[in-house]
Amino acid sequence: MTKIALVTGASGGIGKAVCRRLAEDGFNVMVTDIAADTAKKLAADLPGSGHHGYALDVTDEIMVSDLMEEIETAHGAVSVVVSAAGILILDQNGQRRPIIDTSLEEWSTTQSVNSTGTFLLLRAFLRARSERKVNGARFIGFSSVAAQLGGYRSSSAYIASKSAVLGLIRAGAREGATLDVAVNAVAPGLIDAPMLRISLDPSDDAEISKSIPQGRIGTPEDVAGAVAFLAGPDSAYITGSVIDVNGGYRMQ
Ligand SMILES: NC(=O)c1ccc[n+]([C@@H]2O[C@H](COP(=O)([O-])OP(=O)(O)OC[C@H]3O[C@@H](n4cnc5c(N)ncnc54)[C@H](O)[C@@H]3O)[C@@H](O)[C@H]2O)c1
Repeated sequence: MTKIALVTGASGGIGKAVCRRLAEDGFNVMVTDIAADTAKKLAADLPGSGHHGYALDVTDEIMVSDLMEEIETAHGAVSVVVSAAGILILDQNGQRRPIIDTSLEEWSTTQSVNSTGTFLLLRAFLRARSERKVNGARFIGFSSVAAQLGGYRSSSAYIASKSAVLGLIRAGAREGATLDVAVNAVAPGLIDAPMLRISLDPSDDAEISKSIPQGRIGTPEDVAGAVAFLAGPDSAYITGSVIDVNGGYRMQ
C-alpha cells in the first residue's frame, strides 16, 4: 500500500524539494502551507498521483489537529510527517537584530512557527499513531546549523527556536518508540533557498564557500535526500538523531 507523507512549509525552497523527492520515492504527498492555492498547485505538479494540497498554519492548534484527522479520514493513516515550515525575521537590511533590540513580538512569532509549530504537529501525529499504529512511522523535524553554532546571520529568536526542536525530537523519540514512530531531525547548513537569501547575496557565495569544507552552498535537494533517508526503510533503527546537511561547515 502506498504510504502517506505530510509536509509543512511545502512551498518553501526546501519544502518543495522534499515533496518532489518523496513523490519520486513513491509516497502520496500531503502538501501543506499557509496558502491553499499554492499547496494545491504544487501537489498537482508532483510526479505520480495521490498527492493533495491543503492550507495549514502550523501555529494554529485546531487547524493542525483537524487537518491530521481530515487527511486520515479521506486518505488513510499518515506514515511520515516532515515539519519544514519555518521563519527567520531579520531587519530591512537582512541583518539580525541584537537581543537588546529584539521585540517580544519578533521572539514570540518566531517561536510559534519554528518551535510550537513543530510541537503541535508532533503531538497530532503521535496522537494519531497511538490510535492507529502504522509500521515504521517517521517524524522529521527541521533544526538548523544556527542552533548548533550560535548562528552568524540568524536572529537569537531563530537560534533558540531551532534549539527547541533539538530537544523536542529527543523527547519525542522516547515517547514515539512505543508507538513505532521514529523521531529525528535534519540540521541544514547554508542552503540555497529563500531563507538564506534574505541575508546572503549570491555574489558573496564564493567567499563564504571557503568556510565550507565541501566548498559550496548546499541545495534544497541535498536536504531532501537526507529527509528521504529518514523517511525510508534504511533508517529503521535511527531515532532521536540529527543529520547535519552542511558540507562539513560544522562537524561534531
Ligand atoms: N535555507 C537555509 O539555509 C536553511 C538553513 C537551516 C535551516 N533551514 C530550515 O529549513 C526549513 C525550510 O527553509 P527554506 O529555506 O526552504 O525557507 P522558505 O522561507 O523558503 O520556506 C519556509 C516555508 O514555511 C512556510 N511557513 C511560514 N510560516 C508558516 C506557518 N505559520 N505555517 C505553515 N507554513 C509556514 C512558508 O510559507 C514557506 O513556504 C525551515 O524550517 C528553515 O528554518 C533553512
